[in-house]
Amino acid sequence: MFETIEEAPRDAILGLTAAFREDDRPEKINLSVGVYQDETGKTPILDCVRTAERRLADEAAGKSYLPISGDVQYGEMVRQLAFGAEHEAVESCRIALAQTPGGTGALRVAGDFMKANLPKATLWLSGPTWPNHPNIFEAAGVPMQTYPYFDQGSNGLDLEATLDAIGKMPKGDVILLHGCCHNPTGIDPTLEQWQKIADAVDSRKLIPLLDFAYQGFADGIDQDAAGLRVFAKPGAELLVCSSFSKNFGLYRERVGALSIVCPSPDSVAAVQSQMNRVIRANYSNPPAHGAAIVNCILRDSELRANWEKEVATMRDRINGMRQQFVDALDEQGVPGDYSFMTEQRGMFSFSGLTKAQVDALREQHAIYIVGSGRINVAGLTPSNVGHVAEAIRMVIG
Ligand code: LMR
Repeated sequence: MFETIEEAPRDAILGLTAAFREDDRPEKINLSVGVYQDETGKTPILDCVRTAERRLADEAAGKSYLPISGDVQYGEMVRQLAFGAEHEAVESCRIALAQTPGGTGALRVAGDFMKANLPKATLWLSGPTWPNHPNIFEAAGVPMQTYPYFDQGSNGLDLEATLDAIGKMPKGDVILLHGCCHNPTGIDPTLEQWQKIADAVDSRKLIPLLDFAYQGFADGIDQDAAGLRVFAKPGAELLVCSSFSKNFGLYRERVGALSIVCPSPDSVAAVQSQMNRVIRANYSNPPAHGAAIVNCILRDSELRANWEKEVATMRDRINGMRQQFVDALDEQGVPGDYSFMTEQRGMFSFSGLTKAQVDALREQHAIYIVGSGRINVAGLTPSNVGHVAEAIRMVIG
């Protein structure tokens, strides 16, 4: 039977990293997957993480199962980090929450939750979006549509088209928005634009789902939650998928959370039970280690301060590289004005390179970027940026 099974296509992002590993050209550079590298090209373990891991090893808390929805203390920290410790939704206990295996796990639980509890809802994805969003919600059996978001002409947000599309979405549908550092474009709404989007979502009675994977990578920990908090008004309903892969550098530990903000504390128990139900049928209960690290850091004022400094260091390095990249393209005489890249936020730069140019970069220069033209700026270093710019000049021709 297995002889008739056809090979699945490679994943748009992780498939490139697999191809990169197989590439034996020594000069190869991986600017595809969103993983931070320092200026020497290494993905560091944060100091605060090392300290927390030592403490956790000394405490030896045991290896029994966690509850289906994960560690309760961790859940408290996640709510406070996303919404703010004194936020009305946090203080009035109207947020159901589950610790999940990464942000992807949170999205899949959200998809299964939607399928079971909002069976008529369509999920609206931004054009473009993270290529794994459609995979996750298709696997969960959730119908999807796309709304316009990015304007290629201005390299910015097409707010008018976004609002226009929202105005036509059926009541009760779910709209997925990127909480900050939009992936792949790096284009986020301003606070004023967030307000307009939230008003439009509210007046159509849609449910927002915020994918929140890069908190701290744009402007700061609290600043990057500003859009999300615009939605979390008293009585509002929303879903938030948090990931701590990037901002704690805990990629392989798979640590994230799904928060579901309920209209009142009365609905939390039922919503929580439905989340638990889909989790039990999926991975039963979450892995403990990554969440224990995040909990330990966020509960300790000294470790937390160190963490905030380390996030700022990553953010500043990426923003510095954006400028160096634009300068390097200029020095190489690459046609066009790339200064828009310094306005993009988060790890990625949406370069505007075509699929053919992306393929030529990989085939002729061993430089791997995502097919959409998305470049992981966090993979650029002072020693490779000139070479990358030169290769771009050559493929643009
Ligand atoms: C990315 O967009 O590169 C990251 O979110 C990693 C992934 O899993 O795709």
